[in-house]
Amino acid sequence: MQTKKASASCATGCPSHGKAFSAADAEVFARVEDMIDLTLKVLERDLPAPEFEKKRAKISGKRTKDYPRVPVMLAVCMQRRPPPPAKVMPEWEEQCAVACAVQNLWLTATALGAAGYWSSWTAEARDSAEMASFLGLGPGDRCLGFFLLGIAKPGAAEAYRATRGAIEAKVDWRLEEV
Ligand SMILES: Cc1cc2nc3c(=O)[nH]c(=O)nc-3n(C[C@H](O)[C@H](O)[C@H](O)COP(=O)(O)O)c2cc1C
Repeated sequence: MQTKKASASCATGCPSHGKAFSAADAEVFARVEDMIDLTLKVLERDLPAPEFEKKRAKISGKRTKDYPRVPVMLAVCMQRRPPPPAKVMPEWEEQCAVACAVQNLWLTATALGAAGYWSSWTAEARDSAEMASFLGLGPGDRCLGFFLLGIAKPGAAEAYRATRGAIEAKVDWRLEEV
């Protein structure tokens, strides 16, 4: 509970712009189940049958094995604020602001010993009108995936971590040699 609150309060400390999180923890796990049902319905409608079958199998596996072990699942959403005709921020800035908020949350959670994972979710379901209605999104708002927060088994998070290249390969230094 402490990790959850600390992470959420750090997330609100990110740079400006619209952010919205909606938390579904163990008490409201039924909402996650509803969201997965909705996802499968949209995929069945929008994907060719063989592709749907592949995704259904993958999602169903995670549904029984993984999601019940996740105590907190956040819908990461971008709110378009303020509504026109007031000055509207460029959408990319609002998306970046949300990502900064998620990073704050992620760093705080990691520092407190929890593990985080950002899932883009399946694009067809994530961007659907059904998902927007389920999450209560307004016109122009966007779902940017789901953030899963929990306690990993010792060593599990490290084994899952992506490898990072050297900083020299990513930064083009334009400084004079001193
Ligand atoms: C915006 C965003 C969306 C992501 N979506 C997915 C995803 O759909 N599936 C996935 O396996 N990893 C996804 N990731 C990566 C994971 O959240 C995580 O970073 C990755 O598993 C590597 O773990 P690490 O960052 O601890 O090294 C996403 C990351 C970001 C920033």
